[in-house]
Amino acid sequence: MSQIIQRFSVSYEFPVSFTRHTFAVENPVLCDLLRRAGNKEHKLFPVVDADVLKNHPHMLDELEEYARCHSDTINLILPPLVVRSGELCKNDPQEVQEFYRLTQDYKIDRHSFVLVIGGGSVLDAMGYAAATAHRGIRLIRMPTTVLGQNDAGIGVKNAVNFLGRKNYLGTFVPPYAVINDFALLQTLPKRDQRAGIAEAVKVALIKDAEFFDWLFDNRQLLAEFDEDAVAYMIRRCAELHLHHIATSGDPFEYGSARPLDFGHWSAHRLEELSHHDLRHGEAVAIGIALDSLYSAQMGFISTALQQKIFTTLQDLGFALSHSAFTQLDIHKALQDFREHLGGELCITLLTGEGQAAQFNEIDETVMQRCIDTLLRDFPAH
Ligand SMILES: NC(=O)c1ccc[n+]([C@@H]2O[C@H](COP(=O)([O-])OP(=O)(O)OC[C@H]3O[C@@H](n4cnc5c(N)ncnc54)[C@H](O)[C@@H]3O)[C@@H](O)[C@H]2O)c1
Ligand SMILES: [Zn+2]
Repeated sequence: MSQIIQRFSVSYEFPVSFTRHTFAVENPVLCDLLRRAGNKEHKLFPVVDADVLKNHPHMLDELEEYARCHSDTINLILPPLVVRSGELCKNDPQEVQEFYRLTQDYKIDRHSFVLVIGGGSVLDAMGYAAATAHRGIRLIRMPTTVLGQNDAGIGVKNAVNFLGRKNYLGTFVPPYAVINDFALLQTLPKRDQRAGIAEAVKVALIKDAEFFDWLFDNRQLLAEFDEDAVAYMIRRCAELHLHHIATSGDPFEYGSARPLDFGHWSAHRLEELSHHDLRHGEAVAIGIALDSLYSAQMGFISTALQQKIFTTLQDLGFALSHSAFTQLDIHKALQDFREHLGGELCITLLTGEGQAAQFNEIDETVMQRCIDTLLRDFPAH
């Protein structure tokens, strides 16, 4: 018998830029990040979310003009791939296959760049396609939703759905770069503008009391989608997510503990039970309310903090319950979440403002009482 232990590590680095009007000819962000791969002409293949294109009909003309003015850096490959929006592109393998076919036709290789512009769904599906074609083509993500810019678009995960199971096929592959262009968010429907803010409340509550205080103080401005307040909220939320991924010691989620999933065990279930009537962020807001109430009932946080959390969420415009709660089987939802984590049950609960801890057990009777309280005190419309 003999054995060799193979060991190596790969270090990752990618820039996340915050800007407005990326394709304005004088904006250096896109050119600068392409030049990180060398001062030469780079193939750039755009892939765009159909709804985004509908809302920004001049986007491709602007990109073409940008590429023309920076032809020493960009070799733009056209026509672009326009991808059907939302969960559909993760459900239907046709979208990913079309990506494979076109990248083959256009001879996009491992040194070429794919620029994916879209919501979290399009980023997830096309990120998966880019990670698997040629075992990985360089991916630049340009998230166009709040959730995409402060959470889904800046992480290391890509996925599509398979056999009705969400995110069943996927990869942990960091992008080459991310461009968060705030100007794109103005055309988002009101519900999507609001929904992504739930992730900021989540990460503030578990990691940064000062940021939570800022969210509380600025809740009215955020509810109005004030440009400056939204830009700060996205930047700080992204920063906290990025810091966690870089420093938690588990960027590719080998373990079971996932603090960033605070409020998510019930949220996942509520999304399904509501037949996706609830946006992800709306379900997360309800999940945060539930787990905050439970944390207070168990004596881990004060009632005053729990009340402050409720006020923040409500003033941002979130509902704190949904009729789907009546069908929520707590035991089964916790089991499913354990399976989703792939090990033992690990639920993140609050232990203070900006502080959280992992718990392996939940008192289901207390949790049921919390659900009943939310349904009674904050009846769903
Ligand atoms: N990879 C990750 O780490 C991660 C994390 C969280 C969520 N996700 C995934 O993200 C997806 C949800 O993403 P989402 O909330 O961004 O929703 P989404 O991508 O489904 O977009 C919602 C709708 O808004 C449209 N849209 C997007 N940007 C727009 C704009 N600027 N103007 C007008 N319309 C626009 C989209 O075309 C779509 O119809 C889910 O599939 C979820 O699983 C992934
Ligand atoms: Zn989330």
